[in-house]
Parts: sequence; structure tokens; C-alpha cells
Amino acid sequence: MNVKELNEQFKNSKPEEILKYFLKQYGQEAALSSSLGAEDQVLTDMLLKLDKDANIFTLDTGRLHPQTYDVMDATNLKYGIKLNIFFPFDKEVEELYKLQGVNGHFESIDNRKRCCNIRKIEPLKRALKPLKVWITGLRAAQSVTRIDMPVVEWDDNFEVIKVNPLINWSEEDVWEYIKSNSVPYNKLHDEGYPSIGCAPCTRAVKAGEDIRSGRWWWENPEHKECGLHAK
Ligand code: ADX
Ligand code: SF4
Repeated sequence: MNVKELNEQFKNSKPEEILKYFLKQYGQEAALSSSLGAEDQVLTDMLLKLDKDANIFTLDTGRLHPQTYDVMDATNLKYGIKLNIFFPFDKEVEELYKLQGVNGHFESIDNRKRCCNIRKIEPLKRALKPLKVWITGLRAAQSVTRIDMPVVEWDDNFEVIKVNPLINWSEEDVWEYIKSNSVPYNKLHDEGYPSIGCAPCTRAVKAGEDIRSGRWWWENPEHKECGLHAK
């Protein structure tokens, strides 16, 4: 795989064309990681229209909002599927609790990263282990940390080809697709949550505020990656 050539090839491609290429080349060894957020729901709809058995998984941290679990069920029902889920290891969560209690992640960046490592990063490693291609719903406009991300890249941390089909989409593009294709979406989006992660670490934002300002809102913008998409 030549990353540079693929980025050149997909420069003006629609997300569906990008997905089609990777499904054809890699089949079940390509998977979408879905947080059940708006972008991932768009990609879920596109993927399942291309292949009803497309591989999609969610990292269930155990601390998601009830509305996120609702959209998980709604998605399974609409498409007649069962999204794959990966939980953290029970023993590690028990140790985490002994070390820093239930909400110790508010006390320091180290504590927060420890929680993200146990609840998200380790399960993600497990999910990606048998895969060659990791598809995400990242968009460049989401954050200062994402501006330079390409459509296709080699991810050194997880040793997979990372594909970001919506990287050049705007928030408007996402909602236009959701509405015109009747895609199920997380009801928290209607309550001022443009970006949704774990319940204790996500809050609503006011009109005009940065779209990721409600995530880990007590930290500076340059820290606001949990390690899933860190360089
Ligand atoms: S995060 O790193 O800050 O949590 P964000 O919520 O913006 O990420 O989502 C970016 C992409 O990361 C999503 O489109 C999805 O591919 C992946 N992702 C984030 N959270 C999860 C999750 N809980 N399960 C699966 N994939 C996730
Ligand atoms: Fe823990 Fe918050 Fe990270 Fe979720 S986002 S894994 S609750 S620190």
C-alpha cells in the first residue's frame, strides 16, 4: 500500500468510493470504529449499504450516556445487525477504581489518561489486532489536533492503515446526510452535544463554542485526545 498514491487517488473522492475501495481490498479485515456519534452513524449507513455484513465495532467504556446505548439499539434494529462491542477488562477496571475511585479522572491528566487507557485504548488494541484497516469518523474541522489529518495514513501506534473518509466534510455535510437518509442519531446532538464521548467527560456546548469544547472541558485543547488519535 502506498499512502501517498492513495491520498492522491482519493483527493476528490466521495466517502462511499473510499469505503468501497477498502471493503473490496480488505473485506472483514477493514472495520469502522463507531462511537455512535453523528459522523460514525453516517459511515455506518454508507458501509451497510455497500455490504450488510460490514465490520463495525464500538468501544463500550462502561461509562457511555444512556442516549448512546439507545442509538446502539436503534441502529441494530434499523439495519438488522448487531454492532460488535469491546469492553475493558474487568480486573483492570477494578484496579482503576481501587487506585483513583469512580471519578478520579478529574483530578489529574495522568489519572484521566489511565482511565482512557484502560477503558478505551486497551480494548481498541484488541479490536484492531486482527485488522488491517481502521476506518474512523474523524473530521479535520473538529479540532486543532486534526487539521492536518489525511484520508489515508499508516498508524504507527496501532500498526494499521487508518482511513478517515469524512476528513474533509463539514458539520453541515454530516447533518445533511443524516436527515436525507433518515439515519438514527444520538438524541444528545439535539441538546447541544456536537461531540459525544463518555458521560462524565462530556458536556453540552453553547452556540458558537468550539465543537469539542465540551469534551474533557477542564483540560487545555492540546491535551484533548484520549490516545485513540494521538500522534
Ligand atoms: S475521541 O478520541 O475524542 O474520543 P471522537 O469522539 O472525536 O474521538 O471520535 C473520533 C473517532 O474515534 C470516531 O469517529 C470513531 O471512529 C472513534 N471513536 C471514538 N470513540 C469511540 C468509541 N467509544 N468506540 C469506537 N470508536 C470510537
Ligand atoms: Fe474515563 Fe473519561 Fe476517558 Fe471515558 S473519557 S475512559 S470516563 S477518562
